Amino acid sequence: MNIGPHKLKNNLIVAPMAGVTDRPFRQLCRELGAGMAVSEMVSSNSLLWGSEKTKRRANHDGETDPRSVQIAGAQALMMTEAAKHNADNGAQIIDINMGCPAKKVCNVMAGSALLQDEVLVGQILEAVVNAVDIPVTLKIRTGWDRDNRNAINIARIAELSGIQALAIHGRTRACHYKGDAEYDTIRDVKQSISIPVIANGDITSPEKAKHVLEYTGVDAVMIGRAAQGRPWIFREISHYLETGQHLIAPSVTEVRDIMLGHLDNLYNFYGEFTGVRVARKHISWYSKGQVGGASFRNEVNRVDTIKQQLAMTHAFFEKLAQKEELAA
Ligand SMILES: Cc1cc2nc3c(=O)[nH]c(=O)nc-3n(C[C@H](O)[C@H](O)[C@H](O)COP(=O)(O)O)c2cc1C
Repeated sequence: MNIGPHKLKNNLIVAPMAGVTDRPFRQLCRELGAGMAVSEMVSSNSLLWGSEKTKRRANHDGETDPRSVQIAGAQALMMTEAAKHNADNGAQIIDINMGCPAKKVCNVMAGSALLQDEVLVGQILEAVVNAVDIPVTLKIRTGWDRDNRNAINIARIAELSGIQALAIHGRTRACHYKGDAEYDTIRDVKQSISIPVIANGDITSPEKAKHVLEYTGVDAVMIGRAAQGRPWIFREISHYLETGQHLIAPSVTEVRDIMLGHLDNLYNFYGEFTGVRVARKHISWYSKGQVGGASFRNEVNRVDTIKQQLAMTHAFFEKLAQKEELAA
C-alpha cells in the first residue's frame, strides 16, 4: 500500500494510542512486523509545544520511514500550524484525528466531535493539505452516533480535500468502546472513494485481520489494543496472510527478551522517573494471563527504580521460562 510517495512494507498499521505508541513502542512494533506506526496525538495548541511531553512526542530519532504524526484540534489555522511544526520536526505524514471520543478532546470540538460539522471538516482538511507538502491522512469513526453514521460523507469530503488515506474505527463516537466494531460501514466507505482505506477496531488475531480485509475490501488494517503486551501480533498476522499458516507463539524466553529490550528503550527515552512509571503498564500487559501474574503486578507496580523493576521482572519471567523448559 502507498501513502503518497511512501510504499509501506505491508498493510499492517499500529493505531495511534496516547500514552502507548511512544517512540519505543512504535519502533518495537515496526521491528516485529508492522508496516507503519502512527505516533501519539500532538495537540494543535502551540502553547504546549515547548512542554517536555510534547517535545518527547515529536522525537523521531532513529525511527524507520515513514514517520506519521497525528494532530488534533478544531481550528483550521491552529491545525495548519501544528502540521507545519511537525513536518519541520521530522514527520513524513500528518494524520488528523477525528476519531477520538475522549472528553478532553471532544469538549473542544476536536476528535470525533468534529464529525458533526461536515463543513468545518472540509475546511480543516483542505487547510492542512494545502499547508504542508507531505501527505495528510485522516482517522475517523463511523459517525457521531448510530443514527448519524456519516462516514461516507466525511470520506468523500476527505478525498476531495486531498487526503491520501483514510482510517476508520468501526464504532460511532457515542459507542466509545462498547459493543463490537462493525465493518459494514467501512466496506461501504471503501466502495465510495478511491483513496486507500484502513479498517480499525477489534482486530485481535490473524484470522480476524484476514476476515476484515476480505469482508471490507480495504487496503490495510490498523491494530491498537491487541498489540499491547503483544507487539509480535504484527509478524503473526503478516505470516498468516502470506502463508495461511500460524507462526508458533513466542516462548516465554523470547517474550522476556523482547520485553527487557522494550524496557531498556523506555528507560533511555524517558529517564528513570517517568520510564519506570510508563514501563508499569507494559509490564502488566506482558504478564497478563501468566501464572502468578496478578501478585507479580501488585508488587512490581510499587517499586520506583529501574534496578528494582528490572530485577523483579527478570525474576518473574525467569521462573516462567524454567517451568516452560521443564514442561517441554
Ligand atoms: C489507550 C488508547 C489511546 C488512544 N489514543 C488515540 C489517539 O491519540 N488518537 C486516535 O486517533 N485514536 C486513539 N485511540 C483509538 C485507537 O487508535 C483505535 O482506534 C481504537 O483503540 C480501536 O482499535 P483497536 O480495537 O485495535 O484497539 C486510543 C485508544 C486507546 C486504547
